[in-house]
Amino acid sequence: MIVLLVSSSARGHAIADAFARSPQNMEIISLCPTANPGIRALAREQHVMNIMNFEQVCAIAKKTQPDFAFIAPDDAIGGGLADALETIGIASVAPKKELAKIESSKGFTRNLLKKHDIDASPKFRVLPSLEGGGRGRGLEQEIRSYIENELHGEYVVKYDALKGGKGVKLSGEHLETIDHGVSYALECIEECGRVVLEEKLIGVEFSLLSFVSGPDVVHMPVVQDHKRAYENDTGPNTGGMGTYSDTNHSLPFLTENDLKRAQEINQLVAHALLREFGIPYKGILYGGFIAVRDGIRLIEYNARFGDPEALNILPLLTSDFAAICLGIVTGELTEDLVHFSRKATVCKYIVPESYPVSKDQKGDIVEFPFSHSAPDRYNLFYGDISEDLNGNLILGSSRTAGIVGIGDSIAQAEAIAQKLCEQVQGPVRFRRDIGKEEMIQKRKDMMKDLRYSSPVSSSRSALPLSTSSTVF
Ligand code: AMP
Ligand code: GLY
Repeated sequence: MIVLLVSSSARGHAIADAFARSPQNMEIISLCPTANPGIRALAREQHVMNIMNFEQVCAIAKKTQPDFAFIAPDDAIGGGLADALETIGIASVAPKKELAKIESSKGFTRNLLKKHDIDASPKFRVLPSLEGGGRGRGLEQEIRSYIENELHGEYVVKYDALKGGKGVKLSGEHLETIDHGVSYALECIEECGRVVLEEKLIGVEFSLLSFVSGPDVVHMPVVQDHKRAYENDTGPNTGGMGTYSDTNHSLPFLTENDLKRAQEINQLVAHALLREFGIPYKGILYGGFIAVRDGIRLIEYNARFGDPEALNILPLLTSDFAAICLGIVTGELTEDLVHFSRKATVCKYIVPESYPVSKDQKGDIVEFPFSHSAPDRYNLFYGDISEDLNGNLILGSSRTAGIVGIGDSIAQAEAIAQKLCEQVQGPVRFRRDIGKEEMIQKRKDMMKDLRYSSPVSSSRSALPLSTSSTVF
């Protein structure tokens, strides 16, 4: 069987590894924006190219005649690569452009949930409204009044289009005053036509990804990401410095009801998309959730695998990934195709020392003095790494490699990942605290405090402990 895999990065390496483990003798045709030695080692061929050049992607697809395509990055999915491939008869594990609005437009997603009575959003407003809200001075007043009077100064401003994870700004963190919030909201409207204003939620974040084929939804183990660059969740946001998952496929700070509710929301949203567009969503639906004092809220949706989340989830898959993908594209996705081992995982990203602030280490050599994987113990997935003519591995400027420890407990998985990370040679660093008992206890304590503190007037309004560090 042949798969066209559109992805570079460690996420792409983890996806390629899952295909390579399939009993169906998969041949991987890899299309990468930047060369990836990890994927190349598993692929029949690798084309380093602009994956946003859909004509060129389709030309390679016509020549190689894959059984299906797997598209991983948000820009290719949001730009409609699945639609382009469909015109030449190739099905994709990735939603079509219209359905990918679930990720590419936060305003669309909030309105979709509202229209279909899915009660999972914070208080929000999309401006200008589709009915044509005021412009100019009127609009500025409307933004100010909503932030001040409805959100009581605890707010989030979201750019309403893809912006590489950089379009979201929070009060008290990126936006110090209401004036800053108003001018950023106006800037968003100026640039992309719309802005989403919403209540700032207090709680603990987690990711629930599901395989989706129209109305059929099969969930994966829940994962928690750590976006901040430095220990103790400090410093600037990154693509994700590391993640963990637990043996029971939930997380230590979630109740059984929390997990069930998050699963239900993904299910309801898949159904809402089907009703809204009349065409099936086929691919990965990635819910970014937050556990709050009285349940679960949705922060955002992505239409793809998370990075690092895929690095935790895919090594746990004991069933055939290719069969799941075929089930998705043919509309025959069933629960019995999907089995994950009951192990815990901890992923720590090795990154250049100065990441994400500067690119000072780009071009330096990095060495991993251990093999790529040991069954049931660990995996090493290459990210922004290239290989020179002498076979040296060379640092790029972004995240270098994800090291995933696998164990019978989070503590065991963490110890494995940590030990391997310590052996990496080069001008790199990683977060030691990810997956450590102290960090997990902090999340558990926070949820306990939230759940048992006295109720406030609205269950949704932010608690008095509204500092940025309260959202993990
Ligand atoms: P997004 O791109 O929507 O995932 O937002 C990026 C990050 O901003 C999230 O991971 C959260 O940490 C934070 N964030 C987004 N929306 C909210 C919200 N309503 N309340 C609190 N934090 C939020
Ligand atoms: N883990 C964050 C993302 O993939 O967007």
